[in-house]
Amino acid sequence: MNKPIDLRSDTVTRPTDAMRRAIAEAEVGDDMFGNDPTVARLEARVCEITGMQAAVFVPSGTMANQIAIRSQTEPGDEVVCHPDSHIVHYETGGPAALSGVTTRFADGPRGTFTADTLRGLVRPDDQHFAVTRLVSLENTHNRGRGRVWPMEQLHAVVGTAHELGLRAHVDGARLWNASVASGHSVREILGDADSVSVCFSKGLGAPVGSAFASDAATVKRARRFRKMFGGAMRQAGVLAAARAACPRPPHRPPRRRPRQRPIARRAARRDPRRHLAAGSGRDQPGVLRSLRSPRPCPGCVRRGSPPKVCSCSPRGPARSGR
Ligand SMILES: Cc1ncc(COP(=O)(O)O)c(C=O)c1O
Repeated sequence: MNKPIDLRSDTVTRPTDAMRRAIAEAEVGDDMFGNDPTVARLEARVCEITGMQAAVFVPSGTMANQIAIRSQTEPGDEVVCHPDSHIVHYETGGPAALSGVTTRFADGPRGTFTADTLRGLVRPDDQHFAVTRLVSLENTHNRGRGRVWPMEQLHAVVGTAHELGLRAHVDGARLWNASVASGHSVREILGDADSVSVCFSKGLGAPVGSAFASDAATVKRARRFRKMFGGAMRQAGVLAAARAACPRPPHRPPRRRPRQRPIARRAARRDPRRHLAAGSGRDQPGVLRSLRSPRPCPGCVRRGSPPKVCSCSPRGPARSGR
């Protein structure tokens, strides 16, 4: 029997042999004393890729986001983010519990919003109001089905945030996907953003690990909160080493159709009851959507064929990409 393909998430991966070797051979120290060379190398590499001054290695994307919020706000402040953002939906109320901040929602299509929307949400300087301190953008957007922010729109939001005295954080758990899909480097995408969180366990296949990067003063403060939240580790080089052995993401957009389309077709051929629609590539990379009750395309209905992933109609499931 064919081995099932587990498409629940890009996190359902196994370390490659190269990663296991890198883990076994990792040069380590005690990272809480700041002397694990493998962690230091990874943090330096994150700075190179993101263009930020400093970075700190953390166990998860959730912790990276939470120290981002805690280190750039004070209790009672307000954070602007999309209502569907990961920090709101999937981080267990962390912003309220760990940072004592409220969230204000900037709505828009599939996890994005505009600079004008942000402008309309920032509260005036008045003793009655919470201080709007931070805006958080998520790129690619998880609940927005992998939506890549148009780069100019992201830059406009960051620019407006600065104009209004806010800092701008990018939840870039899958920023590598945005880079590959758009053809822009991670640095270009981030532009003037003040901070970013990135994950090695998503899209890259590392078993664990994320990083928070920003200016040196913010990262220094974030290190204190990493410790407070229980995320400072000892011989963490064994974890950081796996990232070095990850396959390198290409820094150019794919020229051919993304592999997810053929994967979707193959999966549907194996089990015709389960149909999969593949993301359209550029704006939602890495997204495979399960369509349990597919609407047969008009061509298939006319011919009396069973519903399937087909290419005979623009409305057929394989092409919908939504
Ligand atoms: C956009 C985004 N941010 C943060 C996270 C949190 O990462 P972790 O599961 O490592 O805590 C995820 C996880 O999928 C995510 O999709």
